Amino acid sequence: MTSQILLRSLPTDLDPARLPRHVATIMDGNGRWARRRHMPRVYGHQKGVDTLKDLLRCCKDWGIAALTVYAFSTENWGRPQDEVDFLMALFEKVLDRELAEMAEEQVRIRFVGALHHLPKSLQGTIHEAMTLTANNTGVQFTVATNYGGREEIVQACRKLAQEVKAGRLQPEEIDEALINKHLYTSEMHDPDLLIRTSGESRLSNFLLWQSAYTEIYVADVMWPDFDRSAFHAALLSYQNRQRRYGKA
Ligand code: IPE
Ligand code: IPE
Ligand code: MG
Repeated sequence: MTSQILLRSLPTDLDPARLPRHVATIMDGNGRWARRRHMPRVYGHQKGVDTLKDLLRCCKDWGIAALTVYAFSTENWGRPQDEVDFLMALFEKVLDRELAEMAEEQVRIRFVGALHHLPKSLQGTIHEAMTLTANNTGVQFTVATNYGGREEIVQACRKLAQEVKAGRLQPEEIDEALINKHLYTSEMHDPDLLIRTSGESRLSNFLLWQSAYTEIYVADVMWPDFDRSAFHAALLSYQNRQRRYGKA
């Protein structure tokens, strides 16, 4: 498509010096997208993978250093078992299929969340992907899987409490930096821009701590339709904002 070709490089109305360093996305609306086409919800998840692939490549093309995506929340286990099973199998299949190419493109892959509750074979694939790409210097791609912002804070508290109990840490020593260090995202910058598709204006337990001063953008399109021009619109909105961080 012509528009896609035109968007291969950074659109000229975007200032390359003021791009977000880290973009996070809540990939929402796959089920509705499919149902509107009289297809099963899981068809939407499958199409959503193509959207994600192009967004990751777009980050590389346009010079965005880090992309974090919400793939599965701690609450999503409450969905029908066949949808959960489909998603777990899809994550593994896609990771297996795309790993070599992502590694080739210098993507550094990370997974965040309570990973030890995921199916064992998926854990193995995740471990392989993180190890293989650990020293890559391209886009930092983070996938939040079995991730919940509250669960993340709870497990950080637990680790700190254990340190205190063992006499290795004083309660007064606990500060924001130390809590940050015990989050799954300890090695990442906070997101500058958080995009949610499907028109919903909520965080649904995503990056609660990290989004304290993140700019939020809600796109009305369903995730499978979130293409480069929709991303362009989100970045334009971001560049028109003034980030104040509580200052005058
Ligand atoms: C987001 O799309 C994907 C996941 C949560 C895995 P949904 O599956 O939530 O689709 P909708 O929001 O029901 O349309
Ligand atoms: C958030 O979407 C989780 C992911 C996109 C992985 P949900 O569809 O689960 O969120 P709610 O239920 O609409 O809040
Ligand atoms: Mg949803």
